[in-house]
Amino acid sequence: RTVAVVLAGGTGERVGLNVPKQLIRVAGKPIIEHTIAAFQASEVIDEIIVMMTPGHLDAIRNVLRPGAYPKVTQVLEGGETRNGTTAKALEALGDEECNVLLHDAVRPLVSQQIIADCVRALETHQAVDTAIPSADTIVEVDGPDGRLIRDVPPRALLRRGQTPQGFKLSVIRRAHRRAAADATFSTATDDCTLVLRYCPGVPIAVVPGDECNLKITQPIDVFLADRLFQLHTTPSPEPRSVDQLRAALRDRCVVVFGG
Ligand code: CTP
Repeated sequence: RTVAVVLAGGTGERVGLNVPKQLIRVAGKPIIEHTIAAFQASEVIDEIIVMMTPGHLDAIRNVLRPGAYPKVTQVLEGGETRNGTTAKALEALGDEECNVLLHDAVRPLVSQQIIADCVRALETHQAVDTAIPSADTIVEVDGPDGRLIRDVPPRALLRRGQTPQGFKLSVIRRAHRRAAADATFSTATDDCTLVLRYCPGVPIAVVPGDECNLKITQPIDVFLADRLFQLHTTPSPEPRSVDQLRAALRDRCVVVFGG
């Protein structure tokens, strides 16, 4: 059994609207609905749990019209941090071993291929991350202000982590329980960090992500996602595969810029 957890407990301060960014409408639907629809459509997903910003559960109930997304079994309030939201979702799952895919609600363009690759990787690994190469050189700086460079790790060894991240339930639970018991741990921006730190010896597989699987973080990302959805669903209303989307993007470059 594979359960997808849609992490939507944040407020979207960097986008800066008065609603959580996962409720912004792009291509006619709230961002989170596109995300839920992707997991609903996946043959390898049995159940979906939605973790929503406290105070905004009604907005999700509007999205979940009767019969629209039957795989959604629970809608719960998120925690104060992303890790806190994940921990609450893990508590809501039973004791039977299963696969858990943790996905950012604000990555609505996740492909069927990525979801399937993550679940397949869990046949041979207990943890899996989704990542893409970095076009930019990544520099490590001396502190949060970032005034000085400390190191420039070789770009070939760096990846940009996306989601889903997939785990055997027992492994991600162990990682979270150990993190909760560790006074030196504050928070992390993802869940693989916890497995890496608290379940040493558990290899974390990496499956290829996609540039289209962007995380809506800044206002420009809302614009980009909206434009990508236009290509995603035109000319037919059925979403295209990522390969088709890539081909459509290439075609547009030829038509618009290629002369
Ligand atoms: N998230 C969550 N619970 C939190 C914080 C974040 O479930 N307490 C989710 C967000 O809803 C989002 C994903 O984690 O889908 C990635 O986080 P991020 O992009 O940082 O979202 P926000 O915290 O909403 O953004 P910001 O930092 O700009 O406020």
